[in-house]
Amino acid sequence: METHVVDHPLVSHKLTTLRDVRTDSPTFRRLADELVTLLAYEATRDVRVSEVTVETPLVSTQGVRLSRPTPLVVPILRAGLGMLDGMMRLLPTAEVGFLGMIRNEETLEASTYATRLPEDLSGRQCFVLDPMLATGGTLSAAIEFLFARGAEDVTALCLLAAPEGLAHLESVFHDSGRPIKVVTAGLDERLNELGYILPGLGDAGDRLYGVV
Ligand code: URA
Repeated sequence: METHVVDHPLVSHKLTTLRDVRTDSPTFRRLADELVTLLAYEATRDVRVSEVTVETPLVSTQGVRLSRPTPLVVPILRAGLGMLDGMMRLLPTAEVGFLGMIRNEETLEASTYATRLPEDLSGRQCFVLDPMLATGGTLSAAIEFLFARGAEDVTALCLLAAPEGLAHLESVFHDSGRPIKVVTAGLDERLNELGYILPGLGDAGDRLYGVV
């Protein structure tokens, strides 16, 4: 598994404002959207392309286009929805599949409550959107789900990651031989006893959409 912490002053600037408890939901949504577009640029570095010939107004030349099958973007509901527009801005021809997952706040175990994805993901490059990689339970369940449907590789985009979550993914997938990448704006210190990332930014879903 490969982890990439994006090191860029604009990413750090936006992340700092997301962390700030005084940032209201409209500003949080806008900054998360902008930040995801910056993460998406890094996360799509290995997206498959095919060589094509293109006619300019003057001559023919060689270029590339995204290969088929098109990549699949998978936001994990609910908080992953706040990352979807930022991702699709860079990959407008991608398809979108939805995974509804919730973690039990006592056991911290993830369970799936909704799926809307193609049955066959053979040959598909998948991009999972999950803002907070905390214990890693939700993300590992989502990645297992995609590989079980035949996904070729999985890249997760997370606003923040905790060392415990990365270690969990490593322990689940290290002998799987599956290509997995995590791209994040920050690697934080640790989890607290309730499974929240410290220093973190709080509950990403609540900050995006309000407390339910
Ligand atoms: N989910 C969140 O929204 N925030 C955390 O800190 C951990 C999990």
